[in-house]
Amino acid sequence: MGLTFDSCSTLLASVGQQHLLRFWNRLDSQKQTQLLRDIAQVNLPLIAQLVRENAAGSASQVHPPSSIEPAPTLPDLWSAGAEHDYPRARADGERHIRQNKVAAMIVAGGQGTRLGFDAPKGMFPISPIRRATLFQWFAEALIGARRRFNAAIPWYVMTSPVNDQATRRTFAEQRFFGLGEDTVRFFAQGVMPAVSTDGKILLESEHRLALSPDGHGGSLTALARSGCLEDMKRRGIETLSYFQVDNPLARPVDPLLIGLHLRERAEVSSLTIGKADDLERVGNFVRIGDRNHVIEYTELPEALARRRDAQGRRLFDAANLSIFVFSLPFLERITGAGDELPWHRALKKVPCLDPITGERLEPAAPNAIKFERFVFDALPLASRSLLVRGRREECFSPVKNASGTDSAEQARRDLCLRGARWLETCGVRVDRSPDGAPAHPVEISPALAADAEELREALRTLPPPDLSGPVLLCAS
Ligand code: UD1
Repeated sequence: MGLTFDSCSTLLASVGQQHLLRFWNRLDSQKQTQLLRDIAQVNLPLIAQLVRENAAGSASQVHPPSSIEPAPTLPDLWSAGAEHDYPRARADGERHIRQNKVAAMIVAGGQGTRLGFDAPKGMFPISPIRRATLFQWFAEALIGARRRFNAAIPWYVMTSPVNDQATRRTFAEQRFFGLGEDTVRFFAQGVMPAVSTDGKILLESEHRLALSPDGHGGSLTALARSGCLEDMKRRGIETLSYFQVDNPLARPVDPLLIGLHLRERAEVSSLTIGKADDLERVGNFVRIGDRNHVIEYTELPEALARRRDAQGRRLFDAANLSIFVFSLPFLERITGAGDELPWHRALKKVPCLDPITGERLEPAAPNAIKFERFVFDALPLASRSLLVRGRREECFSPVKNASGTDSAEQARRDLCLRGARWLETCGVRVDRSPDGAPAHPVEISPALAADAEELREALRTLPPPDLSGPVLLCAS
């Protein structure tokens, strides 16, 4: 049942948030409805609890540095010796995919503020030659995997209330990028309100709360709440492959990672790479007690981030790419028992109305607390959690910033370099500029090949590529 003014007023008074209705009499009926709708989206008892905990100073979980150790990892494909038998693990992963036991999931609910792109991030044009969007790029990767393994591989797309409509519209306009409408399912994560430092929920305007997505950790609860977990079970899915919309080098379904996950009977498996430098702005995989954790770069003490082992190698060197493989029973367990993931607090600048005076504030300094959950906080809930190394140039070049590090320009360069390397592995000579970049852009659609081996197979049926200009290789 929807909220009425009276029921809402009573509810808000019980948690000290009555100020949210202070402009009620000035609003037309549409705006009143919108305000009630915003308030109904908020878990008020949870906010009251978080505000209490914040005031009591019991903010985020801090681990003493002495308890933090490097997390054990399996080697990457190129360094693994025969004893690891990666070819067999890969074959196991492929069989599992062929048996229709694998689904893919993308988190695309973030706001892309740093990128300065005013649309769902998945609509960002990324590929080096065609400028295919991130959504199209990943759709092509799924089309490639479906064809190769003759498997259904349904795709679960997590949006947020901020971009849900626009995301669905894009998929519809693009005819689901050729994936088949019934094989793509959208679900929206939740939202959380920003609160003032003294615990008042902030109004963005007289009839809207200052709401934002509840962090990608919200994806797990949302999977269960939306019925997507049930849907997966109905389809016979046992393994979920999870990745972020911002990394075009991510492979949505990786047979080797899945095979190793199955072999180790892990509940969650993560792909990791060596860090670019000690203080790279990524999460760090670490071991605390008998569990794997991710500690964000902001929370890993600098002395630990810089520590070396006896051979002079970086001790904490496992970067989080947010590429995970989850077993379904694990997801059911951690979402069934209520909300087990902790809430992180961040002080942010949030334009709002002053909760007391109602005056419009454009803060120059952080004025509000935002609450978010992180998906990687699921790792310590797993009794068996596996880490596998990949190589940065093969799997990671995220699009986060408008320019410089982690920008679209860099991701395009990395896609070209990866394509050129794959071609060279297949015996095709690629002209390089003095700086090592290919002389012409190279774009290999992931529908054609997801790695050098797959490209080798694909090239058997294609005419020799013309290397005198941009090289675009697509599936027919
Ligand atoms: C994140 C990880 C970091 C990791 C890095 C790899 C966190 C806190 N840290 O950093 O450990 O090394 O990615 O690139 O996440 N998203 C949602 N809903 C949300 C928030 C985010 O769907 O509520 C999605 C975004 O669309 C994006 C992804 O999650 O694709 C990452 O979010 P972002 O906030 O950009 O994380 P980073 O700080 O870059």
